[in-house]
Amino acid sequence: MTEDLRSLANRRALVTGAARGIGAAIAAELARRGAAVLLVDIDGPELDATTDSLSRGGARVHAFRGDVTAEAELAEMARTAQARLGGLDILVNNAAILDATPLDALTRSRYAEVQEINQNAALWTAKAMLPLLAASPHARIVNIASILGIRGTTDSLAYAIAKGGVVNMTRALAVDLAPKGVLVNCICPGFVDTRMAILPDGSGHEHEADWFRDVYIKYGRIPLRRPAPPEEIARATMFFCGDDCSYVTGQILLVDGGISATF
Ligand SMILES: NC(=O)c1ccc[n+]([C@@H]2O[C@H](COP(=O)([O-])OP(=O)(O)OC[C@H]3O[C@@H](n4cnc5c(N)ncnc54)[C@H](O)[C@@H]3O)[C@@H](O)[C@H]2O)c1
Repeated sequence: MTEDLRSLANRRALVTGAARGIGAAIAAELARRGAAVLLVDIDGPELDATTDSLSRGGARVHAFRGDVTAEAELAEMARTAQARLGGLDILVNNAAILDATPLDALTRSRYAEVQEINQNAALWTAKAMLPLLAASPHARIVNIASILGIRGTTDSLAYAIAKGGVVNMTRALAVDLAPKGVLVNCICPGFVDTRMAILPDGSGHEHEADWFRDVYIKYGRIPLRRPAPPEEIARATMFFCGDDCSYVTGQILLVDGGISATF
């Protein structure tokens, strides 16, 4: 392992939504760079499988099955971070659900549920972890939003509004937490190859659909002409987690293959 890959040795990290997809890739990358990681997810069996597999590879990882929208579970999560990791340096707010409900079918309760998981939980998780983070000389929060936090698309209202909230929450939280030495930044992924990209109507993976291949690949709406594997999002996230990020806070990094650079 090179020096660079040990750059997060002695750091303690918590990643929400870490059982699979982007969260699992971020947990793996943090561990690969030497951090001890608490993986948090609502899906117990998948969380255990991911944690076991990282642990067999030599990573210092622990699992916590919990719901980021449940206040009591956030308090328990903080106690577990203290007990298992001895504190916390890095929080990655990644857990979310997909929603593609058209406006005419969108109910207040579904809208509220999406805001609770995809937006509000990032704030309450940060608040619950703050006593631990404020005690760290290397405290970092990274929020995983989305390209849909800065753009809209059809049938994206509940999800896009929540992600837009996470984008601006990042700026407001960065200002509030600067005196405590906590740097807060945000990653907006574009199209990423995870289970979230499987179409809710059961018709398959969106990246395999004709419209996606035509618009985004053939005609280059994604200038790099491909979706990203979750590992590429994870590697971009590492800058915000480590010491190279010492004078950057409240910033939004789009990791989208260039979609947002075109129109
Ligand atoms: N996949 C994409 O194309 C894409 C694009 C832009 C942004 N994102 C964002 O990246 C992040 C990760 O998405 P992904 O593609 O890996 O999705 P995913 O569905 O594969 O993983 C999300 C994880 O979050 C967990 N989770 C959901 N609700 C939870 C809760 N209440 N408490 C704890 N855990 C919970 C799920 O169990 C799952 O393991 C999300 O914030 C998502 O909005 C994804």
